[in-house]
Amino acid sequence: MARLELIDLSKRYGEHAAVAGVTLDVADGEFLVLLGPSGCGKTTTLRMIAGLVEPSDGRTQIGGTDVTYLPPWRRNTGMVFQSYALFPHMTVAENVAFGLEMRKLAKAEIEVRAREALRLVRLEAFAGRLPRQLSGGQQQRVALARALAIRPDVLLLDEPLSNLDAKLREEVRIEIRELQGQLGLTTIMVTHDQEEALTVADRLVVMAEGEIRQIGSQRDLYERPADRFVAGFVGRSTFLDGRVTGPGEFETAGGLQLKCRDGAPGAAALVLRPERLHLGGANMDNRVPGKVEFVSYLGPVLELHVRLSPADRVLVQLPNRGDAAPAVGDEIELTWHRDAGMVFAE
Ligand SMILES: Nc1ncnc2c1ncn2[C@@H]1O[C@H](COP(=O)(O)OP(=O)(O)O)[C@@H](O)[C@H]1O
Ligand SMILES: [Mg+2]
Repeated sequence: MARLELIDLSKRYGEHAAVAGVTLDVADGEFLVLLGPSGCGKTTTLRMIAGLVEPSDGRTQIGGTDVTYLPPWRRNTGMVFQSYALFPHMTVAENVAFGLEMRKLAKAEIEVRAREALRLVRLEAFAGRLPRQLSGGQQQRVALARALAIRPDVLLLDEPLSNLDAKLREEVRIEIRELQGQLGLTTIMVTHDQEEALTVADRLVVMAEGEIRQIGSQRDLYERPADRFVAGFVGRSTFLDGRVTGPGEFETAGGLQLKCRDGAPGAAALVLRPERLHLGGANMDNRVPGKVEFVSYLGPVLELHVRLSPADRVLVQLPNRGDAAPAVGDEIELTWHRDAGMVFAE
């Protein structure tokens, strides 16, 4: 168990900065999730922490010790890859023992640890099987056991669930979270699945183009996104182009006059979360007539695309209360509080 610190960590490949000055302080036992689009530097960051990629600049500290230039087997990090990366010709037990043999532990100790790790992921009964005799979910649990067997100070999970189908993914992510909690393991998990990120994280980090854009709780990222990118990446939203015309006043490209949170005067985007828009409703700051252009029935919620002007269309989510839903072509009135409108300068 240990605190993990990244200090201005960078990796350049030629002219290209894969990771550009990442500074991050992960508390002992914390579960941190790295979120960001493909190519933003998530894997490179994890690989630098594991010692698989040498940084161009900056430092990594685990438990207060500088490990920046230690080889992977001299720093106590366990890593799980998206592809499982199991050796096909080795049994489950041999796969799990692999990292321990690399570390030159005594044979008896290796056996004890491998068995313990397989017990943690509930696969003791499968020790003698080959990876191909297991399901995808089981293979990924073997990969997890292999990472846990070395009793890592830091657990690194690189999109570990993305090859599993949706239902299994939900189960395994809860398992991972519970296990991490029991063991008190400092953990960084990379995912591009927002729901997964929001479900398991103590804190989240949003990256783009090699840099950290925001660090915070689920609520911080959703309610107070630091910039346009985070607003668009975390949760769903409608972006309306236009300009801030006065304190808390926004005029859309289509000429609608709306109340919003404060923002700097000038060209800007107004960002609206779909569940913050309502049909009718009293005491709202904004009240705009519109026409329903598209309806999706998603079970618990209905999603509407509503045309407010020739240039302005918004996404609306309504709880499904079982009564008559608006239909395509209906004329409705949308209302929302000014606080629901976040403004980002161009
Ligand atoms: N070994 C490498 N050589 C050159 N470029 C690389 C190498 N590894 C990663 N990159 C580049 O660095 C960027 C970040 O990659 P990566 O960390 O894999 O992103 P992510 O995991 O967020 O999808 C990408 O533009 C990728 O093409
Ligand atoms: Mg990656």
